[in-house]
Amino acid sequence: MRVTETAREMRAISESWRSAGERVGFVPTMGALHAGHLALVQTAREECDRIVTSIFVNPSQFAPGEDFDTYPRWLERDSKLLMEAGCDALFAPNVEAMYGGSSVELSPSGERVFVEVGEGIGGLWEGAERPGHFRGVATVVTMLFHAVVPHRAYFGEKDYQQLRIIQRMVHNLLFDVEIVPCPTVREPDGLAMSSRNARLSTEEREAAVTLSRALQAGASLVKGGERDAARLERVMREVCGAEPLIALQYAAVVDTETLSPLDSLGERPARFLISAHVGDMHLIDNIAVPPV
Ligand code: PAJ
Repeated sequence: MRVTETAREMRAISESWRSAGERVGFVPTMGALHAGHLALVQTAREECDRIVTSIFVNPSQFAPGEDFDTYPRWLERDSKLLMEAGCDALFAPNVEAMYGGSSVELSPSGERVFVEVGEGIGGLWEGAERPGHFRGVATVVTMLFHAVVPHRAYFGEKDYQQLRIIQRMVHNLLFDVEIVPCPTVREPDGLAMSSRNARLSTEEREAAVTLSRALQAGASLVKGGERDAARLERVMREVCGAEPLIALQYAAVVDTETLSPLDSLGERPARFLISAHVGDMHLIDNIAVPPV
């Protein structure tokens, strides 16, 4: 596995593969890899000739006071996992290489160009909870695409709004990259895998499963015939309300495409989105609403 820290070298590696007619698959990550990330690598391996993974904890998608400094950084362990998974190249730049400065110098940002995400899809849900987050994501994914020049890029449904925004970005800005959505990988009890789960206390870890339970409670109601979004949201809120360690941010029934809230099920494919704080940790989850 080739390991590089510079965009220039990464592009040269990718260029050599592309000119040999090989298809390049790309899995962008922030590291602290788990089975969810490795499932993306596995899918990419099945569909592409060469696989690139990036590991970069991107400061521009963390607001001041969020967990940028404490986000787990396990590069040695992660690169071993990627090697074993059959990854061909690891792009692991540092903040200086990507932004030409430290994370602190990013905040005034008056001199930089960013990829702005419209309020319609970027201002809802996580966009409202974390102002500036999706601008940081769209900007860094653009930079990573320019460094890696992939044919296909693999994104998890776990971060559903992020996936939809990246699809929109690629469409709106004419990127020549195919975005491949991959299903959420879960722990045996249903908790969606996340790099942040490692930092939950035992009690918080037990409470965290409530998010997926709430989504499942909503799905069961739909299977029983419920169509009213307000009633579905109330049930998800009640499931979370019974767990004192969960501070719910939102539980919503949304249009799969636009992520705007729905009043009732039936006309458009729908998704349940949920977001909560568990202790200091911010966790999100979502599922496809069963067909009505
Ligand atoms: P990160 O949280 O490391 O996630 C990297 C990719 O793995 C994302 O596409 C995410 O949706 C996917 N993923 C995470 N947990 C998953 C799970 N349980 N099942 C399936 N896929 C899962 O998302 C980011 O990093 C960053 O925002 C990034 C896109 C790299 C830009 O900085």
